[in-house]
Amino acid sequence: MAMKVGILTSGGDCPGLNAAIRAIVKSGKEKHSMSFIGFRNGFRGLIQNNYLELSTEMVSGILTQGGTILGTSRDKPHKFPENGKYVDKTMEALKVYKKNKLDFLICIGGGGTQKNALYLKKSGIEVVTLPKTIDNDIPFTDTAIGFDTAAGIATEAIDRLHSTAMSHDRIIVIEVMGHRAGWIALGAGLAAGADIILIPEIPYDIKKAAEAIIERKKRGKEFSIVVVAEGAMSVSQHKIVSKLVYSKENSKTKEEKAKAKEKLLLFHKEHLSHTLVLTKQLEELTKMESRLTILGHLQRGGTPSSYDRIVATRLGTAATESIQNGKTGIMLGLKEEMVVEVPLEDVAGKIKLVPLNHPSIISARSTGVFLGE
Ligand code: F6P
Repeated sequence: MAMKVGILTSGGDCPGLNAAIRAIVKSGKEKHSMSFIGFRNGFRGLIQNNYLELSTEMVSGILTQGGTILGTSRDKPHKFPENGKYVDKTMEALKVYKKNKLDFLICIGGGGTQKNALYLKKSGIEVVTLPKTIDNDIPFTDTAIGFDTAAGIATEAIDRLHSTAMSHDRIIVIEVMGHRAGWIALGAGLAAGADIILIPEIPYDIKKAAEAIIERKKRGKEFSIVVVAEGAMSVSQHKIVSKLVYSKENSKTKEEKAKAKEKLLLFHKEHLSHTLVLTKQLEELTKMESRLTILGHLQRGGTPSSYDRIVATRLGTAATESIQNGKTGIMLGLKEEMVVEVPLEDVAGKIKLVPLNHPSIISARSTGVFLGE
Protein backbone atom coordinates (compact mmCIF):
# COMPACT_ATOMS: atom_id res chain seq x y z
CA MET A 1 0.00 0.00 0.00
CA ALA A 2 1.63 3.32 -1.06
CA MET A 3 2.20 5.55 1.94
CA LYS A 4 1.24 9.19 2.48
CA VAL A 5 3.92 11.21 4.26
CA GLY A 6 3.95 14.68 5.82
CA ILE A 7 7.13 16.80 5.86
CA LEU A 8 7.97 19.86 7.98
CA THR A 9 11.05 22.00 8.54
CA SER A 10 11.46 23.50 11.99
CA GLY A 11 13.84 25.84 13.84
CA GLY A 12 16.44 28.14 12.29
CA ASP A 13 16.51 27.86 8.51
CA CYS A 14 19.71 26.94 6.65
CA PRO A 15 21.03 26.03 3.21
CA GLY A 16 20.37 22.36 2.50
CA LEU A 17 16.78 22.19 3.74
CA ASN A 18 15.38 22.35 0.21
CA ALA A 19 17.89 19.75 -0.95
CA ALA A 20 16.55 17.42 1.75
CA ILE A 21 12.90 18.08 0.85
CA ARG A 22 13.73 17.39 -2.81
CA ALA A 23 15.52 14.11 -1.98
CA ILE A 24 12.63 12.89 0.19
CA VAL A 25 9.96 13.65 -2.41
CA LYS A 26 11.91 12.38 -5.44
CA SER A 27 13.08 9.14 -3.81
CA GLY A 28 9.74 8.49 -2.08
CA LYS A 29 7.75 8.97 -5.25
CA GLU A 30 10.09 7.29 -7.70
CA LYS A 31 11.08 4.27 -5.58
CA HIS A 32 8.08 3.74 -3.31
CA SER A 33 5.11 5.54 -4.95
CA MET A 34 4.67 7.64 -1.81
CA SER A 35 2.65 10.86 -1.78
CA PHE A 36 3.71 13.93 0.20
CA ILE A 37 2.25 17.00 1.82
CA GLY A 38 4.44 19.76 3.24
CA PHE A 39 3.30 21.56 6.39
CA ARG A 40 4.09 25.26 6.39
CA ASN A 41 6.15 27.03 9.05
CA GLY A 42 7.27 24.03 11.05
CA PHE A 43 5.01 22.46 13.68
CA ARG A 44 2.67 25.46 13.45
CA GLY A 45 1.49 24.26 10.03
CA LEU A 46 0.86 20.77 11.44
CA ILE A 47 -1.33 22.16 14.20
CA GLN A 48 -3.17 24.56 11.87
CA ASN A 49 -3.52 21.97 9.08
CA ASN A 50 -1.73 24.46 6.80
CA TYR A 51 -0.02 22.44 4.08
CA LEU A 52 0.65 22.10 0.37
CA GLU A 53 0.79 19.03 -1.86
CA LEU A 54 4.40 18.25 -2.80
CA SER A 55 4.80 17.05 -6.38
CA THR A 56 8.01 16.14 -8.21
CA GLU A 57 7.59 19.33 -10.25
CA MET A 58 7.41 21.43 -7.05
CA VAL A 59 10.76 20.15 -5.82
CA SER A 60 12.46 20.29 -9.19
CA GLY A 61 15.26 22.88 -9.15
CA ILE A 62 15.24 23.56 -5.38
CA LEU A 63 18.43 21.55 -4.64
CA THR A 64 20.57 24.68 -4.85
CA GLN A 65 18.12 27.08 -3.21
CA GLY A 66 18.76 28.37 0.32
CA GLY A 67 16.06 28.48 2.95
CA THR A 68 13.00 26.19 2.92
CA ILE A 69 10.07 26.28 0.46
CA LEU A 70 7.85 25.20 3.38
CA GLY A 71 8.83 28.04 5.69
CA THR A 72 9.81 27.34 9.31
CA SER A 73 9.20 28.45 12.89
CA ARG A 74 10.37 27.61 16.38
CA ASP A 75 6.86 26.69 17.61
CA LYS A 76 6.49 23.54 19.72
CA PRO A 77 3.25 21.44 19.64
CA HIS A 78 3.33 20.81 23.39
CA LYS A 79 4.05 24.48 24.22
CA PHE A 80 2.17 26.33 21.47
CA PRO A 81 1.96 30.14 21.75
CA GLU A 82 -1.70 31.23 21.92
CA ASN A 83 -3.08 34.53 23.30
CA GLY A 84 0.15 35.23 25.16
CA LYS A 85 0.21 31.81 26.82
CA TYR A 86 1.68 28.40 25.96
CA VAL A 87 -0.89 25.67 25.31
CA ASP A 88 -0.42 21.94 24.67
CA LYS A 89 -1.65 21.35 21.10
CA THR A 90 -0.38 17.79 20.73
CA MET A 91 -3.92 16.43 20.29
CA GLU A 92 -4.62 18.96 17.52
CA ALA A 93 -1.45 17.78 15.78
CA LEU A 94 -2.62 14.16 16.06
CA LYS A 95 -6.04 15.09 14.67
CA VAL A 96 -4.47 16.77 11.60
CA TYR A 97 -2.19 13.75 11.12
CA LYS A 98 -5.20 11.42 11.11
CA LYS A 99 -7.46 13.77 9.12
CA ASN A 100 -4.91 13.78 6.30
CA LYS A 101 -4.55 9.97 6.59
CA LEU A 102 -0.79 10.25 7.02
CA ASP A 103 1.34 7.14 7.59
CA PHE A 104 4.46 9.05 8.62
CA LEU A 105 5.72 12.54 9.47
CA ILE A 106 9.28 13.60 8.58
CA CYS A 107 10.59 16.45 10.75
CA ILE A 108 13.78 18.22 9.64
CA GLY A 109 15.28 20.34 12.42
CA GLY A 110 17.69 20.88 15.28
CA GLY A 111 17.81 19.82 18.90
CA GLY A 112 14.39 21.24 19.73
CA THR A 113 12.83 19.48 16.75
CA GLN A 114 14.18 16.10 17.90
CA LYS A 115 12.48 16.66 21.27
CA ASN A 116 9.21 17.81 19.67
CA ALA A 117 9.23 14.76 17.37
CA LEU A 118 9.66 12.38 20.32
CA TYR A 119 6.66 13.95 22.07
CA LEU A 120 4.59 13.46 18.91
CA LYS A 121 5.79 9.86 18.59
CA LYS A 122 4.59 9.19 22.14
CA SER A 123 1.19 10.67 21.20
CA GLY A 124 0.77 8.19 18.32
CA ILE A 125 2.35 9.93 15.33
CA GLU A 126 4.92 7.85 13.39
CA VAL A 127 7.95 10.12 13.01
CA VAL A 128 11.36 10.06 11.36
CA THR A 129 13.68 13.05 11.71
CA LEU A 130 16.70 14.53 9.95
CA PRO A 131 19.37 16.56 11.82
CA LYS A 132 19.53 20.20 10.70
CA THR A 133 21.37 23.06 12.36
CA ILE A 134 24.31 25.23 11.42
CA ASP A 135 25.45 24.82 15.04
CA ASN A 136 26.15 21.10 14.43
CA ASP A 137 25.28 20.43 18.09
CA ILE A 138 23.07 17.34 17.53
CA PRO A 139 24.60 14.14 18.97
CA PHE A 140 24.99 10.74 17.23
CA THR A 141 25.67 12.31 13.83
CA ASP A 142 29.01 13.62 12.59
CA THR A 143 27.29 16.53 10.91
CA ALA A 144 23.93 18.23 10.55
CA ILE A 145 22.46 19.79 7.41
CA GLY A 146 23.65 23.41 7.19
CA PHE A 147 26.86 23.21 9.23
CA ASP A 148 29.29 22.82 6.33
CA THR A 149 27.82 25.79 4.48
CA ALA A 150 27.89 28.02 7.55
CA ALA A 151 31.49 27.07 8.35
CA GLY A 152 32.43 27.84 4.74
CA ILE A 153 30.73 31.25 4.78
CA ALA A 154 32.46 32.11 8.08
CA THR A 155 35.83 30.93 6.75
CA GLU A 156 35.54 33.12 3.66
CA ALA A 157 34.52 36.11 5.77
CA ILE A 158 37.49 35.66 8.11
CA ASP A 159 39.82 35.34 5.10
CA ARG A 160 38.52 38.69 3.84
CA LEU A 161 38.95 40.32 7.24
CA HIS A 162 42.59 39.20 7.39
CA SER A 163 43.59 41.71 4.69
CA THR A 164 41.98 44.71 6.39
CA ALA A 165 43.42 43.72 9.78
CA MET A 166 46.90 43.56 8.22
CA SER A 167 46.47 46.88 6.38
CA HIS A 168 45.51 48.75 9.57
CA ASP A 169 47.56 46.86 12.18
CA ARG A 170 44.26 46.10 13.94
CA ILE A 171 42.58 43.44 16.04
CA ILE A 172 39.53 42.22 14.14
CA VAL A 173 36.98 40.31 16.23
CA ILE A 174 34.52 38.14 14.26
CA GLU A 175 31.40 36.87 16.01
CA VAL A 176 30.02 33.66 14.49
CA MET A 177 26.86 31.75 15.36
CA GLY A 178 26.77 28.92 17.89
CA HIS A 179 25.08 29.84 21.14
CA ARG A 180 25.79 26.59 23.02
CA ALA A 181 28.45 24.79 20.97
CA GLY A 182 31.51 26.25 19.29
CA TRP A 183 31.74 24.04 16.20
CA ILE A 184 31.47 26.92 13.69
CA ALA A 185 34.03 29.07 15.55
CA LEU A 186 36.47 26.17 15.90
CA GLY A 187 36.05 24.96 12.29
CA ALA A 188 36.14 28.35 10.57
CA GLY A 189 38.78 29.71 12.95
CA LEU A 190 41.11 26.80 12.25
CA ALA A 191 40.42 26.91 8.51
CA ALA A 192 41.07 30.65 8.29
CA GLY A 193 44.12 30.69 10.54
CA ALA A 194 42.65 32.71 13.38
CA ASP A 195 45.04 33.68 16.18
CA ILE A 196 42.42 33.40 18.92
CA ILE A 197 39.30 31.17 18.94
CA LEU A 198 36.81 31.52 21.79
CA ILE A 199 34.06 28.89 22.18
CA PRO A 200 31.31 28.34 24.79
CA GLU A 201 33.02 25.15 25.96
CA ILE A 202 36.13 27.02 27.18
CA PRO A 203 35.41 30.11 29.36
CA TYR A 204 38.05 32.70 28.41
CA ASP A 205 40.38 34.98 30.37
CA ILE A 206 40.36 38.34 28.57
CA LYS A 207 43.70 39.41 30.11
CA LYS A 208 45.41 36.28 28.81
CA ALA A 209 43.86 36.88 25.38
CA ALA A 210 45.34 40.38 25.38
CA GLU A 211 48.71 39.00 26.46
CA ALA A 212 48.62 36.55 23.54
CA ILE A 213 48.01 39.45 21.14
CA ILE A 214 50.80 41.52 22.70
CA GLU A 215 53.17 38.52 22.42
CA ARG A 216 52.27 38.26 18.71
CA LYS A 217 53.05 41.96 18.31
CA LYS A 218 56.46 41.48 19.91
CA ARG A 219 57.12 38.83 17.26
CA GLY A 220 56.37 41.41 14.59
CA LYS A 221 52.71 40.54 13.93
CA GLU A 222 51.00 43.93 14.21
CA PHE A 223 47.46 42.51 13.72
CA SER A 224 45.35 39.69 15.21
CA ILE A 225 42.25 37.76 14.15
CA VAL A 226 39.90 36.79 16.99
CA VAL A 227 37.00 34.41 16.20
CA VAL A 228 34.30 34.27 18.90
CA ALA A 229 31.23 32.05 19.11
CA GLU A 230 28.16 34.09 20.10
CA GLY A 231 27.76 31.81 23.13
CA ALA A 232 31.35 32.13 24.37
CA MET A 233 31.78 33.72 27.76
CA SER A 234 34.49 34.90 30.12
CA VAL A 235 35.41 32.96 33.24
CA SER A 236 33.48 35.44 35.43
CA GLN A 237 30.39 35.35 33.16
CA HIS A 238 30.56 31.54 33.18
CA LYS A 239 30.60 31.54 36.99
CA ILE A 240 27.48 33.76 37.07
CA VAL A 241 25.62 31.55 34.59
CA SER A 242 26.62 28.35 36.37
CA LYS A 243 25.26 29.71 39.67
CA LEU A 244 22.01 30.83 38.01
CA VAL A 245 21.55 27.46 36.25
CA TYR A 246 22.27 25.65 39.53
CA SER A 247 19.73 27.71 41.46
CA LYS A 248 17.15 27.26 38.67
CA GLU A 249 17.61 23.48 38.68
CA ASN A 250 17.69 23.20 42.46
CA SER A 251 14.97 25.69 43.38
CA LYS A 252 12.74 24.46 46.16
CA THR A 253 9.76 26.63 45.25
CA LYS A 254 8.10 27.72 41.98
CA GLU A 255 8.81 31.35 42.87
CA GLU A 256 12.52 30.63 43.37
CA LYS A 257 12.66 28.78 40.02
CA ALA A 258 10.85 31.63 38.22
CA LYS A 259 13.23 34.20 39.77
CA ALA A 260 16.33 32.24 38.71
CA LYS A 261 14.87 31.76 35.21
CA GLU A 262 14.21 35.51 34.94
CA LYS A 263 17.78 36.32 36.01
CA LEU A 264 19.13 33.84 33.43
CA LEU A 265 17.03 35.41 30.66
CA LEU A 266 18.25 38.87 31.67
CA PHE A 267 21.86 37.63 31.66
CA HIS A 268 21.52 36.13 28.18
CA LYS A 269 19.85 39.34 26.95
CA GLU A 270 22.74 41.44 28.23
CA HIS A 271 25.21 38.84 26.94
CA LEU A 272 24.01 39.50 23.37
CA SER A 273 26.42 42.45 23.16
CA HIS A 274 29.35 40.63 24.77
CA THR A 275 31.54 40.66 21.67
CA LEU A 276 31.33 44.48 21.51
CA VAL A 277 32.49 44.62 25.14
CA LEU A 278 35.22 42.07 24.40
CA THR A 279 36.44 44.13 21.42
CA LYS A 280 36.68 47.30 23.52
CA GLN A 281 38.41 45.43 26.36
CA LEU A 282 41.03 44.09 23.93
CA GLU A 283 41.58 47.62 22.57
CA GLU A 284 42.10 48.99 26.10
CA LEU A 285 44.37 46.15 27.21
CA THR A 286 46.55 46.05 24.06
CA LYS A 287 46.37 49.73 23.00
CA MET A 288 45.68 48.40 19.46
CA GLU A 289 42.75 49.60 17.37
CA SER A 290 40.04 46.92 17.43
CA ARG A 291 36.97 46.38 15.27
CA LEU A 292 34.04 43.93 15.45
CA THR A 293 32.22 42.12 12.64
CA ILE A 294 29.11 40.08 13.51
CA LEU A 295 28.37 37.59 10.71
CA GLY A 296 24.88 36.75 12.03
CA HIS A 297 22.39 35.34 9.55
CA LEU A 298 24.83 35.54 6.64
CA GLN A 299 25.87 32.08 7.92
CA ARG A 300 22.34 30.79 7.24
CA GLY A 301 21.88 32.27 3.77
CA GLY A 302 22.31 31.38 0.15
CA THR A 303 23.01 28.18 -1.72
CA PRO A 304 24.19 25.08 0.20
CA SER A 305 27.79 23.88 -0.13
CA SER A 306 28.33 20.78 -2.26
CA TYR A 307 28.90 18.73 0.91
CA ASP A 308 25.64 19.94 2.48
CA ARG A 309 23.82 19.05 -0.74
CA ILE A 310 25.26 15.53 -0.47
CA VAL A 311 24.42 15.25 3.26
CA ALA A 312 20.84 16.44 2.61
CA THR A 313 20.39 14.08 -0.33
CA ARG A 314 21.91 11.09 1.53
CA LEU A 315 19.73 11.66 4.62
CA GLY A 316 16.59 12.50 2.63
CA THR A 317 16.75 9.34 0.53
CA ALA A 318 17.61 7.28 3.64
CA ALA A 319 14.49 8.66 5.35
CA THR A 320 12.14 7.23 2.70
CA GLU A 321 14.02 3.89 2.81
CA SER A 322 13.61 3.72 6.60
CA ILE A 323 9.92 4.61 6.33
CA GLN A 324 9.39 1.99 3.62
CA ASN A 325 10.97 -0.53 6.02
CA GLY A 326 8.59 0.55 8.77
CA LYS A 327 11.28 2.15 10.99
CA THR A 328 9.75 4.80 13.28
CA GLY A 329 10.86 7.04 16.16
CA ILE A 330 14.35 7.46 14.71
CA MET A 331 16.70 10.20 13.53
CA LEU A 332 18.81 9.49 10.42
CA GLY A 333 22.43 10.55 10.99
CA LEU A 334 25.82 10.20 9.33
CA LYS A 335 28.67 8.38 11.13
CA GLU A 336 31.94 8.11 9.16
CA GLU A 337 29.95 8.76 5.98
CA MET A 338 27.52 5.87 6.67
CA VAL A 339 23.84 6.54 7.41
CA VAL A 340 22.79 5.42 10.90
CA GLU A 341 19.31 5.11 12.44
CA VAL A 342 19.35 6.59 15.96
CA PRO A 343 16.43 6.15 18.39
CA LEU A 344 14.90 9.55 19.20
CA GLU A 345 15.07 8.67 22.92
CA ASP A 346 18.88 8.75 22.58
CA VAL A 347 18.94 12.14 20.83
CA ALA A 348 16.14 14.21 22.36
CA GLY A 349 17.31 16.68 24.98
CA LYS A 350 20.99 15.96 24.34
CA ILE A 351 23.63 18.32 22.90
CA LYS A 352 26.93 17.66 21.13
CA LEU A 353 29.50 20.09 22.55
CA VAL A 354 33.12 20.36 21.38
CA PRO A 355 35.13 17.86 23.47
CA LEU A 356 38.24 19.51 24.92
CA ASN A 357 40.39 16.73 23.46
CA HIS A 358 38.84 17.02 19.97
CA PRO A 359 41.47 16.69 17.18
CA SER A 360 40.68 20.24 16.00
CA ILE A 361 41.31 21.57 19.52
CA ILE A 362 44.64 19.71 19.59
CA SER A 363 45.60 21.03 16.14
CA ALA A 364 44.64 24.57 17.15
CA ARG A 365 46.85 24.40 20.22
CA SER A 366 49.70 22.83 18.20
CA THR A 367 49.58 25.72 15.72
CA GLY A 368 49.71 28.31 18.50
CA VAL A 369 46.04 29.36 18.53
CA PHE A 370 44.98 30.87 21.87
CA LEU A 371 41.77 29.17 23.06
CA GLY A 372 40.90 31.32 26.03
CA GLU A 373 42.61 29.75 28.98
O1 F6P B 1 20.05 27.45 15.93
C1 F6P B 1 20.73 27.96 14.84
C2 F6P B 1 20.94 29.43 15.03
O2 F6P B 1 21.41 29.97 13.85
C3 F6P B 1 21.90 29.75 16.16
O3 F6P B 1 23.24 29.61 15.78
C4 F6P B 1 21.53 31.18 16.43
O4 F6P B 1 21.91 31.60 17.73
C5 F6P B 1 20.00 31.13 16.31
O5 F6P B 1 19.72 30.10 15.37
C6 F6P B 1 19.39 32.44 15.83
O6 F6P B 1 17.99 32.23 15.89
P1 F6P B 1 16.98 33.17 15.07
O7 F6P B 1 17.24 32.97 13.61
O8 F6P B 1 15.63 32.68 15.50
O9 F6P B 1 17.30 34.58 15.52
